[in-house]
Amino acid sequence: MYANSRIPENARKDLLDAINGVLAIDTADSARAITAFEDTLAAHLRCPYMVSAGSGSVALTAAMRSLLPERSGKAVMTTFSYVATALAAVHAGLTPVFVDIEEDTLQGSAQQALAACREPGVVAVVPVHLTGTLCRWDAVRERARRTGIAVVDDSAQRLAALPADLPSDATVFSLAPSKTITGAGQGGAIGFADERHVRAARALLRNGNVGKFRHEVAGYNGVLDPIVAATAHVNLRSLDSWDTRRGAVISRYLTNLSDHAHIRIPDRGRDPRSSKFCITVIEGRDELVEHIRGRGVEVDVHYPLPLHLQPCFRHLGYRPGDLPVAERTAERILSLPAHQWVRDDEVDLISALVREFLDDRDGGATSHPPSESRRR
Ligand SMILES: Cc1ncc(COP(=O)(O)O)c(C=O)c1O
Repeated sequence: MYANSRIPENARKDLLDAINGVLAIDTADSARAITAFEDTLAAHLRCPYMVSAGSGSVALTAAMRSLLPERSGKAVMTTFSYVATALAAVHAGLTPVFVDIEEDTLQGSAQQALAACREPGVVAVVPVHLTGTLCRWDAVRERARRTGIAVVDDSAQRLAALPADLPSDATVFSLAPSKTITGAGQGGAIGFADERHVRAARALLRNGNVGKFRHEVAGYNGVLDPIVAATAHVNLRSLDSWDTRRGAVISRYLTNLSDHAHIRIPDRGRDPRSSKFCITVIEGRDELVEHIRGRGVEVDVHYPLPLHLQPCFRHLGYRPGDLPVAERTAERILSLPAHQWVRDDEVDLISALVREFLDDRDGGATSHPPSESRRR
């Protein structure tokens, strides 16, 4: 699912020029590349207070710690996310409270999140915009605003501004190689709603340094690499056109696959702000993955195990069956490549491999016209 190896020659030249630009200046001055990238990203995401970081993971932790320096309490989040969402809470001294997902959208259940927020000790909610799809959680945000709960959006998989009607204290982005905009390595950023938290986040990401080797808090080294900043800066110029291309790739998958009786296409995974296209199949997911990989095509599973069942969260006491929709989805979901460099003929080949496998398994085609829910 990584697109870097496919970068065309002309685009590669711009990236190399950017790297040479960083190499041509002294290390102390290379912060300029970072500041320039932060400014462009801030303008693009319509967020005035942007703090870059060495990865989305450290950015999430820094965001939570800046907003919640007491380092205790619970953070409510979906169980169906990348592990970094919950680990960030742990590293910020918080206890994750996992909620199940909605069957149709595969987003964290807003209803369950709202119920969880009524329990004592909740200090944060973390809406996760998985596979680029907006997680609104309007009622959750509204309750958080009224009750002083911090809202930290995990937008690692969605490099876009939140709509103006979704209040958030911090929105975290990732520049990891599997994301829509990346550079020559890992990176991340935090957009804060309030300037007050910028200083704390910057200090945390510099081992707690507030200047002249004075370390106010126990932070860590989480700064963005200038080479990543400079190369991601170049790529950011293409974000809109790449989003358009990804939209075309996703439309093609929808045309090819949405009429198959054994495929469900959740809302999640249709957004052009993602480099993956998600489907779920009723059964045989693991064999299907092997079938496609056997033809040399890279596909993946995001994610095979929900967070509440991950060994690293064993101490939280969740059991199989606690969050059943996510557990079922983890056995059925599959991500197909939908980045900007995937060609139409590749989309057609991958779609054909999926259909061929499901039809063979079923002993004959079982296609039918798309139902309302599939078309959505
Ligand atoms: C939902 C989510 N949160 C957080 C992260 C962490 O970002 P990074 O890989 O940049 O540390 C990722 C990255 O995959 C992610 O998908």
